[in-house]
Parts: sequence; structure tokens; C-alpha cells
Amino acid sequence: MRPHPAPMTASSMNPLPRDESSPGLQARLARVMPELEFRVHQPLIEAINRLKKERDAVILAHNYQTPEIFHGVADVVGDSLRLAREAAQTDATRIVVCGVNFMAETAKLLNPDKTVLIPDAEAGCSLAESITPDDVQRLRAAYPDAPVVAYVNTSAEVKALSDVCCTSANAVQIVESLGVPRVIMIPDVFLARNVAAATAVEIIAHDGRCIVHEQFKARDIRELREADPGLAILAHPECPPDVLQEADFSGSTEAMARWVDQHKPSRVVLLTECSMSDNVAVQHPEVDFQRPCNLCPYMKRITLPKILQCLESEREVVTIPVHTAQRARQAIERMLQLSA
Ligand code: 13P
Ligand code: SF4
Repeated sequence: MRPHPAPMTASSMNPLPRDESSPGLQARLARVMPELEFRVHQPLIEAINRLKKERDAVILAHNYQTPEIFHGVADVVGDSLRLAREAAQTDATRIVVCGVNFMAETAKLLNPDKTVLIPDAEAGCSLAESITPDDVQRLRAAYPDAPVVAYVNTSAEVKALSDVCCTSANAVQIVESLGVPRVIMIPDVFLARNVAAATAVEIIAHDGRCIVHEQFKARDIRELREADPGLAILAHPECPPDVLQEADFSGSTEAMARWVDQHKPSRVVLLTECSMSDNVAVQHPEVDFQRPCNLCPYMKRITLPKILQCLESEREVVTIPVHTAQRARQAIERMLQLSA
């Protein structure tokens, strides 16, 4: 698969014409970005799009990236599963991941011979940081018969000690595909409880949390609903279970975007990261996107100047020790097979 000239975008969010003129892009972004702000981004967008062609680089951007990245420079956009799948397909020489470290590591695991770059190596994730390899060993020792299902939001070291990975898009499917009565599911306690509610498989959880999604409270969502019964409420499965119970739909970031595509609600709130609403709003001028939402400080470390610098200086290069990579890759590849 080549990144140029055709965009590789395959998410439910529309493919972007990468040769789109600046006035065209500015008009599309007008709903979420004042013209003055666009003028600041414009030279950087043009420089990045020029340089990535010269360097044979493809830019993968998660749905939480800001609109100027998501709509301005990304070749592929989507949720964690989409980015992993597309990373496995690309034949570009360089892969720039606009997302957080675990996403860049996943791209590297699936492309050991390519240069994988992340514009800011400090782009972490509270879930990935909540669990260590020792924690996994302890859980394994306590439940020796239970396979370990690692959410992709984990380090390569933790994946290397796991049997299979999952994302928010396929967690229930992966857990059920193992055909066992009990699994260890790490590290997100809320995702684990939400999966447990959807399956008969017993789930042993770790106490990790996403700092973005744990902030949503069921009481606040009930008040939103009472104030506006016609409001569609969509929640990410990293939210607490009582929040999901108040929602009309729960799914991965890409599944939420698809729900909006299909249902075209007049008013909607996406209980997730704020840029997600902005990015979907660009495609749905007829839909009123309401708040609350929360910002992910890790995702927001990625900016246009850092992407340009990353392409210019080839930094930061993602590296994973060979032994860790071999075992972590197996967990990722098993997930891709089971959820094909
Ligand atoms: P998705 O896989 O649903 O995009 O979620 C990734 C993530 O980090 C959510 O906080
Ligand atoms: Fe991690 Fe939460 Fe940020 Fe997603 S939103 S990257 S889970 S901290």
C-alpha cells in the first residue's frame, strides 16, 4: 500500500483529499477553527505534507489528535485497532505516529524493519503507566489457569508477558474467542468491568484507569439527559460502568464516529476526549456536538511543529529490544488474527 497520492484513510471519518487546497481545508475546518488560527497552522500543514512525500513517510493519527493534524496532515485516521491494522499494511519507508507511545510501539512491532517515529516521546498514557511487568507476573501466579488479555494501552514489556492483546473495539470478541471460563484482563478496571457485563467469562482485573474517562460521572450524565431528553449520549468503554448504563451507545472511538454517521442525531455528546468531537463535527455540519468532554494531556503533546521537526530530524525513533519485541508481536498478531 502506498501513502501517495491516494490517502489511505479507511475510517468511518471521511477520507481526506491530501491535495486539498488550503482554502478548501480552511472552509471545512471553519466550524471548529477560527480563520486566524488556521492561518497559523497553514504553513506548517503545507510543509509537513511536502516533506512526508519527499521522505516516503505515512502519517497515522488517532481520533484524539487535534483537527489541524487529523484533517490537515494525516494519511490514516482511526481508533487503536484501525491504526494497528493500517500499520501492518503500509509499504511506506517511514511511519510517523501521531498518537501516544503504545500506538507507536504497536506500529513498530508490526514493522520491525521500518523507521517508526513519534513526534514527542513523552506522549504516554495513564493506563500504560498503571501496570508493570511485575504486576503481570503476580497476577499470573495468582491465577495460573487464566490467560492474560492485555489492552493495547500497555507497554511492549507488558504485552510481551501477555497471551493476546485487545482494543476497545474487539475486547469482548477477543475474551470470548479464547474459550476459557476465566481471563486476566489488564490494565483498565473499567474496561474489564464493562467487558464482564457483556460476557459470561469471569474477568480478573487490575486497577488501572484512564485519566480522561474516569472523570465522567453517572450523576452528571443523568442530569444532561433530564435537561435534554433528545440528546444522544455515546460513551467510550474506558468510562465507569454506571456511566455506560446512562448512555445510548458504547464503543471505540471509531465505533462512536460510525454511530453518528449512521444515526445522524440532531444533538449528541461524545463522552471521551474533546478533539474527537471536533474531528467528527467537521464531517457532520448538521449535528450539534455538545459537551462535556475531557482533554488527554498525553495526546495533546503532539503538535504540528513537532511533527515537522520529527520529519526533518528523524526523531524520536521508536526502538524495542528484540526479545521483548518478538513476544509482544505475538500478542498483537494473535489479536489481529482473532478479530480479522
Ligand atoms: P480507541 O481504540 O477506542 O480509539 O481508544 C484508544 C484510547 O486511548 C482511548 O482513550
Ligand atoms: Fe491513555 Fe486515556 Fe489518553 Fe487514551 S485518553 S491515551 S487511555 S490517558
